[in-house]
Amino acid sequence: MNHIILIGFMGAGKTTIGSALSNQLGMEFIDTDNRIEELEQMTIMDIFEKKGEQYFRQLETNVLKELFHDESQYIISVGGGLPMEKENQELLKQLGTCIYLKATIETLCNRLQCDTKRPLLQGEDVRRKIETLMEKRQGTYEAISQYSIITDKCSKEAVVESIVEQVRNIRKKIGDL
Ligand code: S3P
Repeated sequence: MNHIILIGFMGAGKTTIGSALSNQLGMEFIDTDNRIEELEQMTIMDIFEKKGEQYFRQLETNVLKELFHDESQYIISVGGGLPMEKENQELLKQLGTCIYLKATIETLCNRLQCDTKRPLLQGEDVRRKIETLMEKRQGTYEAISQYSIITDKCSKEAVVESIVEQVRNIRKKIGDL
């Protein structure tokens, strides 16, 4: 399949860039977290609290699987933990081109310090939590992406332009876009 999939840590800008990319390319945008909240009629915070993280992770896999029944091409932004599941890595590979959006720990800390919507970052010492999770995840993000770009050093427009160009290079058949 030919979707463009944005992966990366919480706060890296997946939703912002995804939505700008969607406007630029005229492709519909899907955010897995939003999709899950709509389906469950609950916030991510509530899902984690009332049903647990494992339940949430299963929902993430279900959302990916549903995309195989859909003919459209989407820009898809996935939750920061989704690529960590082995099964999801296989699904992502089949779904399209993965772009890894990177940001420095400093930027992530600034953006996420006072966050109240991400269950894994609540409580004390947010920086430590970010560093620990990033250490576990970075290798996977790198391994499954065809292209990575640092989002906190240039404008949103420049990031979008660069992604479009890279996707063109990665797929020779950009007529689709
Ligand atoms: C998570 C990232 C969040 C959301 C959930 C868990 C994670 O999405 O899926 O809070 O494990 O990194 P964003 O990456 O869009 O913030």
